Amino acid sequence: LRVGVLISGRGSNLQALLDACAAPDFPAEIALVLSNKADAYGLERAASAGVPTAVVSHRDFPGDKRAFEEAMDARLRAAGVELVCLAGFMRLLSPWFVDTWRDRLINIHPSLLPSFKGLDTHGRALAAGVRFHGCTVHYVRPEMDEGPIIAQAAVPVLPGDDAHTLADRVLESEHRIYPQAVRLIAEGRTRVEGDRVLLSGDMP
Ligand code: GRF
Repeated sequence: LRVGVLISGRGSNLQALLDACAAPDFPAEIALVLSNKADAYGLERAASAGVPTAVVSHRDFPGDKRAFEEAMDARLRAAGVELVCLAGFMRLLSPWFVDTWRDRLINIHPSLLPSFKGLDTHGRALAAGVRFHGCTVHYVRPEMDEGPIIAQAAVPVLPGDDAHTLADRVLESEHRIYPQAVRLIAEGRTRVEGDRVLLSGDMP
């Protein structure tokens, strides 16, 4: 399966996907890493792994989100991408892009959805006093952080946690489940039915 990864920054989830794809038995390869920021560190990670990169800056399309997204779409298609993974991509995608890539577009979010959509999930989880937090890989729908859930991991909130220690613990889980979710899709084991994903076969 040819995967395109969209990033805006650090790219630690991208790194987890690059590492997984380096294993000879992994059923996916990263065909393109696309960033909307030229200085995203993830671009260096991709280059080090010998993976093609491109930058499509939203700033080159002021006030024209459609043109920005068409430019990304064109790059993804030219690279033969079959599945798009959002990995710390910080622009909200329009319904046009989301529908164009429907059920071929996934995201990782640092909470146990449907709790804590949006930003600062770790601070809000601490403020809410939840005992478990976590992360979710889901198919993207036009509404932010909504869509059929493919994989989740729960992470305990420990005494003395602050947003940083909690985020680090959640991030370790993100790096584990994002490649697992891509594997499930690449093996054809996910089927979207309504608001849910039906899985077949043994779970990783
Ligand atoms: C991750 O926490 C991811 O869940 C969220 O943004 C962060 C990106 O981190 N969507 P990285 O760029 O993958 O290191």
